[in-house]
This record gives sequence, structure tokens and C-alpha cells, in this order.
Amino acid sequence: MDKLVIEGGIPLEGEVTISGAKNATLPLMAAALLAAGKHTFENAPKLRDIRTMQKLLTHMGAACEHNDLLHIDTSDIHTLEAPYDLVKTMRASVLVLGPMLARYQRARVSLPGGCAIGARPIDLHLMGLERMGVEVELQHGYVLARANRLKGASISFDQVTVTGTENLMMAAALADGITTLKNAAREPEVVALAEYLRLMGARIEGDGTDVITIEGVEELSPGRIRVIPDRIEAGTYLVAAGITGGRLKLNACQPTHLEAVIRKLEAAGLSITPEQDSLLVSSNGPLQSVDVKTSPYPAFPTDMQAQFMSLMTLGNGVSVIIEQIFENRFMHVLELKRLGADIELDGRTAVVRGVKKLSGAPVMATDLRASACLVLGALAAEGITEVNRIYHLDRGYEAMEKKLAAVGARIRREKE
Ligand code: EPZ
Repeated sequence: MDKLVIEGGIPLEGEVTISGAKNATLPLMAAALLAAGKHTFENAPKLRDIRTMQKLLTHMGAACEHNDLLHIDTSDIHTLEAPYDLVKTMRASVLVLGPMLARYQRARVSLPGGCAIGARPIDLHLMGLERMGVEVELQHGYVLARANRLKGASISFDQVTVTGTENLMMAAALADGITTLKNAAREPEVVALAEYLRLMGARIEGDGTDVITIEGVEELSPGRIRVIPDRIEAGTYLVAAGITGGRLKLNACQPTHLEAVIRKLEAAGLSITPEQDSLLVSSNGPLQSVDVKTSPYPAFPTDMQAQFMSLMTLGNGVSVIIEQIFENRFMHVLELKRLGADIELDGRTAVVRGVKKLSGAPVMATDLRASACLVLGALAAEGITEVNRIYHLDRGYEAMEKKLAAVGARIRREKE
């Protein structure tokens, strides 16, 4: 297992290019199952999770190739199954369930099981599919699902679910009749998937709002689309500039996807100037402690909670951070405290009292965004920090140590 060795205290200066969004690429790859032929994706990031989804699609019979472009040819799908050994490493594998049922009316998908940040069931995915006429059986940790042709239904989520919305949007694209998704997720990645499905011939309206209407069609055809920039990667580098007292220019990003994050970072004392597809960020003076509550898009994203917390460890007062989406997304707190942070936990609330400085220490990553948060803490901490188990980081950040070193960070990857 690899680790990152970081010498902190250096203000970052320069330009960073933001990669394509992991959480947009994964549903697009699953959507390739909806139409036989060669699907092409531009700007798809080279990440561990993308390779995992490639492995899953290859296991099912697709031909995948990822050079400058990501090509997925689903002409010869022969296995309608997502096995446990793949699903257990990536919950998003469940995204193949909807397309498999839409195109083949059968699927055997391992239940994702829990993960570091919470139980994360898929009951809302299954509720929606059952309303569309799917028979669902749970057996030996697998979902066995079968249907005649899926039929349109009115589905209301009692909780906003991003991949639940995406799964059912894909299932409805080939269903017989009209499907309405209420309390649907509004994330940019959901809109990006809807845009690709329309390009494939689907009839979808309302994506980006909390009511999405899909009118099923007989057949879809493969296409080509560019993956949107990763708003969470961009937010992470905004924090990197703020926490090191530096100034960065983020290129190839989409500022309109980051409005809630930019507002909070400006309140914390960063100066941020959005341009067409780039962001200028610098820290102008001491960091202010501000409160944050995570909620579904367009509010402050849960995927930025850990990164924001690392910034607040150096605030000038007290910051109250409430995690409303996942029940256990504070695994990074104990590790931040090893760097000298002053944080108290009470259920879904973290109270962060700013300290003058952080000091380097060996820490351990537990999940994707927690590892990013620890890298950010290490960039600000005095002395040397070792971030262990960074395979978590490799799931969602393309070449992070190279991008950081290019703007002045003293950082290297070593075998643990
Ligand atoms: C997506 O996960 C993202 N992953 C997550 O990003 C992100 O944290 C999450 O949305 C919330 O924004 C991808 O898009 C691949 P949810 P998802 O279904 O869809 C509960 C990252 O760091 N729930 O929106 O799995 C669930 O337990 C990852 O890139 C049910 O109870 O999340 C959670 O508490 C981490 N039943 C809440 O809803 C269900 O059937 C939101 O989950 C589904 C979800």
C-alpha cells in the first residue's frame, strides 16, 4: 500500500487543471448498457473507481478501452451479474442494475454492504424498480431482479438519493410509458447523465429540478459526450490554496457547480474570482471560522465536508459542522486531531475550535474524502506528515501528488 510524505507550511502558487468528474463518469459508463455499440466519453478521469467500473462491464461482456478517450462497446453483453468482489469495493457498481433491467429484464447484483461512511442501503433504488414492475428477491447477499418489460410509474423518494435517481432514470428510459421521479437529486452529475440519455434518444425533462419525467422509448443508440469537470476535486484545490495561504488558478472547471462551496469559502476569508471555465483563489488574511450544514445539491455538498473541516481547524474561532447526509462521515476527525486539531464530536455535529497551527504526524486515510482532508491538513502542518492507505485517495483524485507538486507542495509517494 502506498503513502504520501508531505512537508507542510508552503503556500501553493500556480495553476491546476481539474479532471473530469468521477461521479459523472460512473453513471455514464453504466448507461452504455442501455444501447448496443460503441459509446465514447471525452475527459473521463483515470481513477481507481473508473477502472473498477471497467472491470465490472468487462466481466459482463463489454469491451472497454481508456486512452485519451474512454470507449465502451456493449455489443456482446453475456453476463447479467455484478459480483460481490467488485461491488464491495465500489458502491456505485449498483448503477448497472437499472440499465440491465431496462435492456435485459434480468439482473443479479451483489448488495453493496456498508462502507466507512455509513450503512448506505439501496432500498430506495429497489422501491422504485418494484413500482416499475420488477420482482426483487434478496438471496445470499445478492439482489435477484426480473421483470417483463418495465412499465412507467410515479416514484417519490423519501430521501434524496443521487445514484437512486440515476438508476431509475436509466431504467425508465426504455420502460413502457411515463415515469415521474419526485424528490429527485438535482446534482450536476444527474443532469449530465440526462443529457447523455437524451443524446442516445431518450425523452427526459426536469433534470436539475426535483421532479424528473421520463417517457420510455423502444430503443436507444450509442453516442459520444464530454464528461463535466469534477466539482469536488475543484473544491478540494480551493481549500488547498486557502489552508496554505497561497494563490491558485483552477483551469477546466465549472464555477456554477460550486456556488454553495464558494460562498462558504469566501465567508471563511478566501477571495475567489470565477471566470468562464476557471477559478482564481487566494487567501487574504486570517481564516474565519464559519458554520456548515451538508445537504443535497445545490446546498453545501457532503463530499466537501471533510475538506472544509481541515480548513476550519485553523479558523479564528469556533465552527459548527453538521453532516446531514451520512450517519458516520467523521472518520477523519480522529486523524485531524493527531495533527493537533481541536474538534469535539456529538452525533452528526462536529465543533471545530481553531488552533494557531497544525503539526505533522503519521495519519491514516479511511475513505476517499477523508484522505483528501488529511492531505490538506498535512499541507498546512509544520513538519512532516505521512498519509497512509492512500489507495482511498486514488479512487477519486487523478495524480493528486503531481498536481500539488506542480504548484510548490513538497510531497512524494512512497511504498508503505
Ligand atoms: C453519491 O452516492 C455519490 N457517489 C457520493 O460520493 C455522495 O457522497 C452521495 O451521492 C451524496 O451526495 C456517486 O455519485 C458515485 P445517496 P450515493 O444515495 O448515490 C441514503 C464520493 O465521495 N440512502 O445520495 O450512494 C444513504 O444511506 C462519494 O465521491 C438510503 O437510505 O448516495 C445516504 O445516507 C461518496 N437508501 C443518503 O441516502 C437508498 O436506497 C444519500 O445517499 C439510497 C440512499
